[in-house]
This record gives sequence, structure tokens and C-alpha cells, in this order.
Amino acid sequence: MFDFKPDPSIDVAERYRQLVDAADALTSDEPDAVANMANVAALIWEFVDDLNWAGFYRVGESKSGAEELVLGPFVGRPACIRIPIGRGVCGAAAEKAQTQLVEDVHAFPGHIACDAASRSEVVVPVVREGKVVAVIDLDSPSPARFGKDDAAGLERLAELLADRI
Ligand code: SME
Repeated sequence: MFDFKPDPSIDVAERYRQLVDAADALTSDEPDAVANMANVAALIWEFVDDLNWAGFYRVGESKSGAEELVLGPFVGRPACIRIPIGRGVCGAAAEKAQTQLVEDVHAFPGHIACDAASRSEVVVPVVREGKVVAVIDLDSPSPARFGKDDAAGLERLAELLADRI
């Protein structure tokens, strides 16, 4: 049994340090990408509070052969399966290879509402050898839930996972 429950008194930066350490421990010896993403989605859910969705989209191929984001392992309500690169918050993160920190999803042009409860969102690209291979997406029912510490912690997580998913 794995027990990675964080101490509730720790600050945000320390919480992400523990999350990254736990993710490292769970994925370092495991070559299966789906298993690793599934466990990391569950870890994010344990370590980061006030979420209604946490998980992965991977860069895959559409029927016409174009690159698009394809739903990966997650915790939360069933979500949109395919997202064109450049669309919505996830598509913007993938296209620009940059973290998107969105305080109010209703104000984000093209935001894709998979769960009507979502009010704010952070999406971090996972980059392998200079190419975006996936994004990590967290949604919250609270406005402006995510800040720079969340983005920095998730970027370290993305770096860790780049060749493990
Ligand atoms: N809101 C995202 C879509 C994915 S769901 O939040 C799980 C977006 O605009 O890209």
C-alpha cells in the first residue's frame, strides 16, 4: 500500500516538493506511461486541494493525421477526449509550450468547459527533447485558485515526467 498523504500544515512550495518526490518514487522504475500518469494524477489529487479535475492530455494523432491532444489518465468527471492544438487552455499550453495560469476560465478565449464547475485552471506542458508530448491540467471550482507556486511546482513535476510518460 502507498500512503503519500501530505502534512496539512506545510506550505504550497513544500507540498509540491513532496508531490514531486512521491511522483519520483512511484515512476522511477516503471516504464509504462499509462501506469505512471494514472498514479501521478492520483497523487496530484492527494496533494493539491480544492480541485475538481486533475490529469493528462497527450499529444496524439487525429484521424486525418494532424497532431492533437488526446485525453489521458485523470481524476474527476469524464472529460473532452480530443482537443486541437491551439484550442482552449490545454491547446494553448501545447501550442506555445508555455504554462497557462487562468484565474477566470470564463474570460479565457476558447476555454473548453468539460465540467461546468471549473472556475480556474492551470495547464503545464511536458516537453521531451524540445517537443511538447503532453500537458498536465488542473481545474478548480474556486476562482483564481492557482498561483506562481502551483505553476512552479507543476513545472518541476512535468520535467520529472518528461521521459516517463
Ligand atoms: N478546460 C480545458 C479542457 C480540458 S478540461 O478542463 C478537463 C481547456 O480549455 O483546454
